[in-house]
Amino acid sequence: MTFPAQFLWGAATSAYQYEGAATADGKKPSVQDAVSDLFKTASDGYHHAEEDVALMAELGLRAYRFSVAWSRIYPDGVTLNPAGLAYYQHLLDLLEAAHITPVVTLYHFDLPQALAEAGGWANRDTIAAYQRFAHTVFEAFGTRVTYYQTVNEQNMLLMMSLKQALAGQGTVQDALQGNHHLFVAGALAIQDAHAHFPHILIGPAPNLVAVYPLSPKPEDALAANTYDALRNLLFSDMAGFGRYNPTALAVLAAAGITLNVTEEDRAVLAQARPDLLYFNYYNSEVVTAASGPLPFRKVPNPETPQTAYGWDIDPLGLRITLRQLWDRYRLPLMITENGLGAQDALEGGAVHDQARIAYLRAHLQQVGQAIDEGIHVVGYNVWSAIDLVSTHDGFEKRYGLVYVAQDAARTRTRKDSFAWYQGVIASDGETLN
Ligand code: BG6
Repeated sequence: MTFPAQFLWGAATSAYQYEGAATADGKKPSVQDAVSDLFKTASDGYHHAEEDVALMAELGLRAYRFSVAWSRIYPDGVTLNPAGLAYYQHLLDLLEAAHITPVVTLYHFDLPQALAEAGGWANRDTIAAYQRFAHTVFEAFGTRVTYYQTVNEQNMLLMMSLKQALAGQGTVQDALQGNHHLFVAGALAIQDAHAHFPHILIGPAPNLVAVYPLSPKPEDALAANTYDALRNLLFSDMAGFGRYNPTALAVLAAAGITLNVTEEDRAVLAQARPDLLYFNYYNSEVVTAASGPLPFRKVPNPETPQTAYGWDIDPLGLRITLRQLWDRYRLPLMITENGLGAQDALEGGAVHDQARIAYLRAHLQQVGQAIDEGIHVVGYNVWSAIDLVSTHDGFEKRYGLVYVAQDAARTRTRKDSFAWYQGVIASDGETLN
């Protein structure tokens, strides 16, 4: 397999999971700060920019994907905080000097708390707040940043608000209306970028899974098809076609959900064609037919190994996903996250994360084969560049190529996967053959 010379070999972090410094330089809380105290310090990336970019340079990274903490830039959702921008400007300086291409996510799960208190995404006004934030970032970063994601994993955000609604916090209707507002916000950011910053390559970054039916029964195939529509196509069709996936809409209508979609919304969504489709891939899922409010049920896959956290490990599912996306949308693709969460042990100054190496190698081999098949893949980002706080499992579950100790200095140690990925990048993927 041959990777193109300009392939973006990258690794990623997100602001609230990595930066810490939750109240530094004018930052106010995001919704994540209320979830766990771990985010107060996290990996203390905010105070380790020099050290971490030096590690990335040593690793040979061609790209670093990070997110901008909205609540640093607009702490109360309305008032600009120049000190927040200054942190990212400095980071961009460091990346430029190290010849590392920045890949910037505008919004990664961390809505400013002030906006959440004003109704969050269910409130249509949040669209304008996001537009202001996105425009400020485009303007401040100028031509230094080409690659942007509008929203990280909008489908996981919806899942979170649906879970909250089922637990009595908010309603399912509001969760889905909020999801619609977020679609419009992302589309407006794409339009803004295209109108005023023509160098920008922008798109959303949903979390996609390969979906399989449990058996050859047509009922299971139909269940898989319906699940795929809600789990994946609702989000990727909005990006690729600028409209709602009809199956997903039909399931929502059958559940009594009617979205308030204005004519103007429809026009905005239809006109905002992304330049790239970014996506995060971790696993595949298996479903079987079920009776009840939803016509499917997720079941374990008897054929795939699992991570210690119960996620199916399925590199072929990544190739299947790449094929499906390319076939359906003909948009260049970038994998913005892929990686293995594990309880790494620091022993004698080393972390022997062989399972992570095996996971990354197997997935990258499938990316290489997809490229050989003619699929346009622009880049691949390991989740994560540096250890950070997992969204669901705290600091116990680690993803990094670099270990971060829980001491006061947040001491960094290169894991075995660091040297391995360094070799892959230095050989332009040759060592994967
Ligand atoms: C994605 C997110 O859902 O997966 C990341 O974009 C997250 O923020 C990653 O950390 C892995 O999930 P988790 O729960 O294992 O941290």
